[in-house]
Amino acid sequence: MNATLPTAESLRTALAALLDGLPPRQATQAVDRLIASYRGTTPTDAPVLRDRSDVAAYAAYRMPATFEAVRAGLDALREAAPHWTPATHTDIGGGTGAASWAVAGAWEDGPRTTVLDWAEPALTLGRELAEASGAPALRAVTWQRARIGTALELAPTDLATVSYVLKELTPGDRAALVDATAAAAQAVVIVEPGTPDGYARIIEARDRLIAAGLSVAAPCPHSAACPIEPGTDWCHFSARVSRSSLHRQVKGGSLSHEDEKFSYVAATRFPTGPVRARVTRKPQLRKGQVLLELCTRDEGLRRATVTKRHGELYRAARDTAWGDPWPPHTAPDQGSL
Ligand SMILES: C[S@@+](CC[C@H](N)C(=O)[O-])C[C@H]1O[C@@H](n2cnc3c(N)ncnc32)[C@H](O)[C@@H]1O
Repeated sequence: MNATLPTAESLRTALAALLDGLPPRQATQAVDRLIASYRGTTPTDAPVLRDRSDVAAYAAYRMPATFEAVRAGLDALREAAPHWTPATHTDIGGGTGAASWAVAGAWEDGPRTTVLDWAEPALTLGRELAEASGAPALRAVTWQRARIGTALELAPTDLATVSYVLKELTPGDRAALVDATAAAAQAVVIVEPGTPDGYARIIEARDRLIAAGLSVAAPCPHSAACPIEPGTDWCHFSARVSRSSLHRQVKGGSLSHEDEKFSYVAATRFPTGPVRARVTRKPQLRKGQVLLELCTRDEGLRRATVTKRHGELYRAARDTAWGDPWPPHTAPDQGSL
């Protein structure tokens, strides 16, 4: 990997350097206030991220996790479209730039990114973090104030990202934003928290993107209706996030990592190669067998039991993680397994 591409590690370093001066008590209070705002009524009429300490708290408390979730969504898009590289990228509701860091890290010749957000303090801190990254693609990002709503106009772009934003919008603005990204972008990646309502917003967005003529590249193996019966379950994935001491300080607790649960959809105007099936739960390892919950192209939701008898495929199943394609590209094709 190119040393100037941003990584989770370089994000942690940039955050630590920038937030060094923030008194711990002030940071903790800002985190508490943010949690209360996000638990309260959203959408709001004015930005939740009002000042520097709100934004610093958001960046320290949430940015490493939203970065990892977007990165996982982008990895799945890249697997489905390995020959595609975006030349331009618009990150809508981009805040302090988590998705822009993930995009700049995903392609060697990172696209020209524009971040749109209505919270000026978020854009300012985002610009400072990008400067501190040392990554040319991030230093070249344009940070622009914009309000998401029916009046939002998006310039044509190769890639649009909308990460952890839909929840903050009214249903009308949410629909308008998804339609605007579908009209403006060749590829759209939308990420939400991996909760039942986050998944419901993803499915609604997925339906709108398909209605606008895009096809699903990931995580789904097809662009037909989601096989999950509404209200019975929710499709979500998990990304491992390393916690720095700063992160532990603002979030409390002593674990060196946490798992960020997220739901997402990546859809494109150009043809891609979606997976034949995807692992939708943490695989269960039993003695001599691996149980995989799968969402498949041809057979909807189903469980595969891979045993020692399957040889190489069994070894591959033991290395397979939640969210991975199945069968892995390297494994022999064994029919409906
Ligand atoms: C939870 S943060 C997510 C930030 C970033 N995308 C990430 O993944 O870390 C939601 C962002 O959406 C922005 N936002 C919410 N409603 C908005 C609106 N109506 N217009 C513009 N930005 C908005 C907020 O200012 C905030 O930066």
